Amino acid sequence: NECTFIAVKPDGVQRKMVGEIVRRFEKKGFKLVGLKLVQASEDLLRDHYWSLRSKPFFSKLITYMSSGPVVAMVWRGLDVVKTARKMLGETNPADSLPGTIRGNYCVEMGRNVIHGSDSVESAQKEISLWFHQSELNRWEDCGSQWIYN
Ligand code: GTP
Ligand code: MG
Repeated sequence: NECTFIAVKPDGVQRKMVGEIVRRFEKKGFKLVGLKLVQASEDLLRDHYWSLRSKPFFSKLITYMSSGPVVAMVWRGLDVVKTARKMLGETNPADSLPGTIRGNYCVEMGRNVIHGSDSVESAQKEISLWFHQSELNRWEDCGSQWIYN
C-alpha cells in the first residue's frame, strides 16, 4: 500500500483540529505510520512548496506555514493519496463540499487548515523531506483484516 503526507497547518493546530483530523483518518481505516509536532523552517517550507515558487502568494504562504507548529503525519493505505485529497476537499474552502475537512472547518484559501500530497510521487518527496526513515513505524494493525478483504 502507498503512503501520503498530511500536515495540520498552523491554523489547524491553533484551532484545536488535530484530534478531529487524526480521528477522521483513523476511522476511515488508514494506518498511522508517523506523527510529530514541528515548527517548520522557511527553508523546509520553500522546498515543500517548491513548485509554487513563482506564484504571487508564495511568500505569504511561507509566512503562514511558518507562523506556528504544524502536525506532520504519514498515513498508509489503499489509494490513500487520492482518497485523502477527497477527505480534505478543494484548495479553496468555498469550493469544498460540506463533509470534507476544508468544507466543514475553514473559509479562506490562505487559512485552509490542512495539507495533503497531490500524487504518489509528491508524497514520496514530501515524506523524505519531513521525516527521517527512523521516524516511520512498521507495525501490525490488528484491525486490518476488518478493513481489507
Ligand atoms: P496543499 O495541500 O497545502 O498543497 O494545498 P493544495 O494542494 O490544495 O493547493 P496548492 O498546492 O495549489 O497550494 C498550496 C497552498 O497554497 C494552498 O493550500 C493554499 O493555502 C495556498 N494557496 C494556493 N493558491 C492560493 C491563492 O490563489 N491565494 C492564496 N492566498 N493562497 C493560495
Ligand atoms: Mg498542494
